[in-house]
Amino acid sequence: MSFRTSPGTPASPPSPADYVEDVSPGGGVLPPRAWYAVSDARSLSLNGRWDFRLSPTADAEDDSFAAEGYEPGGWAEVQVPGHWVLQGHGSPAYTNHLYPFPVDPPRVPAENPTGDHLRRFELPPDWPADGGTVLRFDGVESCARVWLNGTDLGTFQGSRLPHEFAVGHLLRPGGNVLAVRVHQWSAGSYLEDQDQWWLPGIFRDVTLLHRPPGSALDFFVHASYDHREGLGTLRVDSDVDGRVLVPGLDIDVVTGTPVTLPVLPWTAETPRLYDGELVTEGERVPLRIGFRTVELHEGLIKVNGTAVLFKGVNRHEWHPRKGRALDPETMLADVLLMKRHNINAVRTSHYPPHPAFLDLCDTYGLWVVDECDLETHGFTEQAWRDNPADDPRWTPALLDRAARTVERDKNHPSVVLWSLGNEAGTGRGLTAMAEWIRARDTSRLIHYEGDHDCRDTDVYSRMYTDHAEVERIGRHQDGGGLKRRQLPFILCEYGHAMGNGPGGLADYQRLFTSYDRLQGGFVWEWIDHGIEDERHGFAYGGDFGEELHDGNFVCDGLLLPDRTPSPGLVEYKKVIEPVRIDGGDSFSPPGERREAADRDGTVRVTNGYDFADLSHLAFEWSYQVDGENVGSGPLAVPALAPGGTADVELPAPPVDPRDAGARWTVRAVLADDTAWAPRGHVVAWAQLPVAEPVPPSVTASAPPVTGERVITLGPGTFDARTGALLAVGGVEVTGPRLDVWRAPTDNDNGAPWQPDARHGPLWRALGLHRMRHRPDAVEAGDDSLTVRTRVAPAARDVGLRTVYRWTSDGTRLRLTVSVTPEGRWTLPLPRLGVRLGLAASADRVTWLGGGPGEGYPDTGSACAYGRWESTVDALQTPYVRPQENGARPGVHRAEIGGLRIEGDPAFWFTARRWTTEQLDAAEHRADLRPGDTVWVNLDHGQQGIGSQSCGPGVLPRYQLWPAPAEFSFVFSEVTD
Ligand code: GAL
Repeated sequence: MSFRTSPGTPASPPSPADYVEDVSPGGGVLPPRAWYAVSDARSLSLNGRWDFRLSPTADAEDDSFAAEGYEPGGWAEVQVPGHWVLQGHGSPAYTNHLYPFPVDPPRVPAENPTGDHLRRFELPPDWPADGGTVLRFDGVESCARVWLNGTDLGTFQGSRLPHEFAVGHLLRPGGNVLAVRVHQWSAGSYLEDQDQWWLPGIFRDVTLLHRPPGSALDFFVHASYDHREGLGTLRVDSDVDGRVLVPGLDIDVVTGTPVTLPVLPWTAETPRLYDGELVTEGERVPLRIGFRTVELHEGLIKVNGTAVLFKGVNRHEWHPRKGRALDPETMLADVLLMKRHNINAVRTSHYPPHPAFLDLCDTYGLWVVDECDLETHGFTEQAWRDNPADDPRWTPALLDRAARTVERDKNHPSVVLWSLGNEAGTGRGLTAMAEWIRARDTSRLIHYEGDHDCRDTDVYSRMYTDHAEVERIGRHQDGGGLKRRQLPFILCEYGHAMGNGPGGLADYQRLFTSYDRLQGGFVWEWIDHGIEDERHGFAYGGDFGEELHDGNFVCDGLLLPDRTPSPGLVEYKKVIEPVRIDGGDSFSPPGERREAADRDGTVRVTNGYDFADLSHLAFEWSYQVDGENVGSGPLAVPALAPGGTADVELPAPPVDPRDAGARWTVRAVLADDTAWAPRGHVVAWAQLPVAEPVPPSVTASAPPVTGERVITLGPGTFDARTGALLAVGGVEVTGPRLDVWRAPTDNDNGAPWQPDARHGPLWRALGLHRMRHRPDAVEAGDDSLTVRTRVAPAARDVGLRTVYRWTSDGTRLRLTVSVTPEGRWTLPLPRLGVRLGLAASADRVTWLGGGPGEGYPDTGSACAYGRWESTVDALQTPYVRPQENGARPGVHRAEIGGLRIEGDPAFWFTARRWTTEQLDAAEHRADLRPGDTVWVNLDHGQQGIGSQSCGPGVLPRYQLWPAPAEFSFVFSEVTD
């Protein structure tokens, strides 16, 4: 249909700027080339305060603001790099895969927030007059048009990719005006449908680069390593001829000349870089050379001849105030946190990161899967019809994105795989990208998860595959075409770290280390993308009035938005630790007793690194009785080679090894300071139980005394009518009574597209959040008080017959809870235990058991047995969307609010200043307000956590099915 303004006038469309909806990548920009931060050529950062004006549509304002002499009267200011929606202009919006506009490629909505930016600048007085100058944008979302001093330079799309313009002829020594018009939506938005906030703006650096006559243009550092001979081969190809200098290797050759000589190789574990220089007639460019060879060999990804095991994370760029405009300190913080948590690999999901991040990966040592800025996931809603990845009209844009990624990042040794993009279906455009990359760079492998037949790729990659299928893949029993069957496997995403969890990481790691074909994976994802927000604490999808959004699915990281490591990261660190210390799996959850494996006085140490020996580590032993250290010292462990194992003799136990609760703790710590952590930093550890703690015993000797309103039994005072405990000595208590409810975690709730067996909603439908307690009998016997109840939800015939039996020796009170399920239960329980209330003054908590952080049946590897201390507030894990958290597993004894609680068997301990129901109702952190009671849960069982917010649910062995159960607690007043 044609658009007519009035009958008889020629068709005239409402003139959106044509380039905005153009499927081609833009015009006027220079060809892509290698990126480098510094050389001896001059540069001028144009970051800072820019004048800014926001319009509601692409053409609400004409382009006169770009003309010379324009005065931006009444304009606002924004910080560049930055996103205007995070600086008070418009709002951020979050969708997972739905396009927040009608899908009609390449058309975009009329409502197209457009930010006009102006930056005045002067060249420094000594800015060289010769040569040329390039203006570089490192990232602008999503489409820009650029003018300098009134001259239209061109347009570009490709938000997370660099674009350069030649501007030397336009610059003036005095005042210059750079004008940039940025549109939130463009044809490019169809290619950038990643699961993240839509955040328009000039969000990476803007720089002027002087290009002296004879300066370098593009160059490609080829640095391979022959592990058989220990020889590296260096060849630097350069568009502009020059010399290559590497003083540490006595290299001084002309560009294009290969040199082979003995070197130390680069690996993520041993990131040896050689400093060099590319010297052209007009410029000296620093080089950081890492020799390494990546190849597919015998069906495995090998680096320098050795198969690698990726212990990775998916990293989106995120800062809770700055969005994707990351400062150098934040990038460094990410790398240091990764290294300190034993992570050895990063997938740059789902776009090339700020280039400085890759410099850090080279320096500190991380394997990188560098992903192209491409995702068209929203087309899944229409069965991938019209997918740009399979439409030749878009192929130039796809190839442009591939080239800008590869050319920018090709000189980083850390980059070992190129990834074509994420969730873009399949199609001709992707094949064209793979072919182009293969022709340009033979030194790396190609990844793309969407290509399940591995037509274009060198590695079979999947996301969120369950343990059983991963095991089949590991055993080569997964079928598939011939090519795929011969390829290694990685999980490019797994362990969905949304809220509490992920569970099941240790089970994956056992598979990865059991089957060669499984070369590890990348947890989804590194950090929660919560936005700092006065109303909510941290905001997520829907908090800005978006008409379409995916809620807190954007908060699914191992770091909380402020970069506090979540328990999930602590767990991951333990699960992937590069040294295995055998003699017990660190910590045994209640009910599972492990063999004390050191009975013969030795501990088995295995080097799990792929390349490094153990000479950088020092080993220490310590010996605890009842959580108290009674001895410690160094442990001599040989500098085992990768894969090597030694049985190391432990010293004689410092005290009688039959002491209850005795255990060895063995740690591997950094022997010296490293670039990423100080000496003494713990890399790996294990605990070896020697003797289990003695369970508390109470001889039932005190009789219950029935009064008018109360019954007393030893230190216990009970309500005579209901049998509820009211006080233990001078400590007032509410309850305890049976509790099966927990505020469902994101993983309990699962995602809408997940199979129907999603426990959170099913629990709620069954009514487990509103159980009724019916007291059937209060029986005072000779030496016990028995309270019989039935606990059940309205409208259902299932229930839990629950008997509380109290006894006392005069000073201590023992409660034995017996639970018998009735009816046909079709679901596991969230938890099984008792809940009691204490006065709000209860604050300090000490416990003997698992800690210091939280742990659930499938997330507790990092909990060590010991004596721990905290406050009630510090026990909470402040997940962005409140949910069950904070349980300490394997607790034998806890003290809080003057009450001592001992368990038989050990229990899960939780304490908080709000009820589970309030925790459940809260949407944001700020909704949680302390009440006048501290609520304590003592759990005999907890349901596992799993990963069903996007992946598999709880493995059967971590599920808490209703079954007859009996468990005891001993309560006493703390008197010492
Ligand atoms: C994947 C996707 C990620 C993210 C994740 C769920 O399908 O690749 O970008 O959406 O699921 O959080």
